[in-house]
Amino acid sequence: MSYKGNFKVWRGDADGGDLEDYVVEVNEGEVILDIIHRLQATQAPDLAVRWNCKAGKCGSCSAEINGMPRLMCMTRMSVFSESETITVTPLRTFPVIRDLVTDVSFNYEKAREIPSFAPPKNLGLGEYRMKQQDVERSQEFRKCIECFLCQNTCHVIRDHEENKENFAGPRYLMRIAELEMHPLDEADRERAAQEEHGLGYCNITKCCTEVCPEHIKITDNALIPMKERVVDRKYDPVVWLGNKLFRRSGSRH
Ligand code: SF4
Ligand code: SF4
Ligand code: FES
Repeated sequence: MSYKGNFKVWRGDADGGDLEDYVVEVNEGEVILDIIHRLQATQAPDLAVRWNCKAGKCGSCSAEINGMPRLMCMTRMSVFSESETITVTPLRTFPVIRDLVTDVSFNYEKAREIPSFAPPKNLGLGEYRMKQQDVERSQEFRKCIECFLCQNTCHVIRDHEENKENFAGPRYLMRIAELEMHPLDEADRERAAQEEHGLGYCNITKCCTEVCPEHIKITDNALIPMKERVVDRKYDPVVWLGNKLFRRSGSRH
């Protein structure tokens, strides 16, 4: 069973662009990426689109479908009615290169700003030991396919270009949480999250969690625990006293 579907696809580049109308054949079992490929093959050979696996695993076909950030290869045509006009636009938070392809290098820059795993210096390779529950906690975060849908959705940077410099975004705050929860990591992740990577900008709206194709509970399992650790550190009387004594003894010398 096939039908002719109506689509509006954003065409343009960094200098500007607009939605263009297309009528494309839709067949049973197809996903949005099939339609985009048929469009390339039949009517718009120069349409730019990024994709690799067509299996929801490479994270490269992210776009906005009817305004919702989604993977094109995992969005079934059967969720839309045959009469509906479907709009496909590039991710809004990152600069457009051409058509549906955006420049996502913001994310790679943020990834580079996070210092890697810092194990105790007296432990050699092969001597690391950790509990299974600690392994499992970070396992969820390791499911990330770096599609950047959460980064694209977070209002802190989606609507505020000026925040990009100081905010790592949910994907990389989650990476910091993963390292912070690692029992062998010795870096001061709490301070860095708050002071260098903008954890305080996050107001736990959970929009990032809603769009994650891997169903990672970014807000509940990474961002909120990270915020709690930062607050505990600030208001814990033992930590507070320790800081005060340390500063006093430091100031005498
Ligand atoms: S929960 Fe935080 S990181 Fe996620 S979308 Fe909301 S403000 Fe952004
Ligand atoms: S956390 Fe989820 S939404 Fe964000 S980049 Fe990873 S897979 Fe994509
Ligand atoms: S093409 Fe790889 S996730 Fe869609």
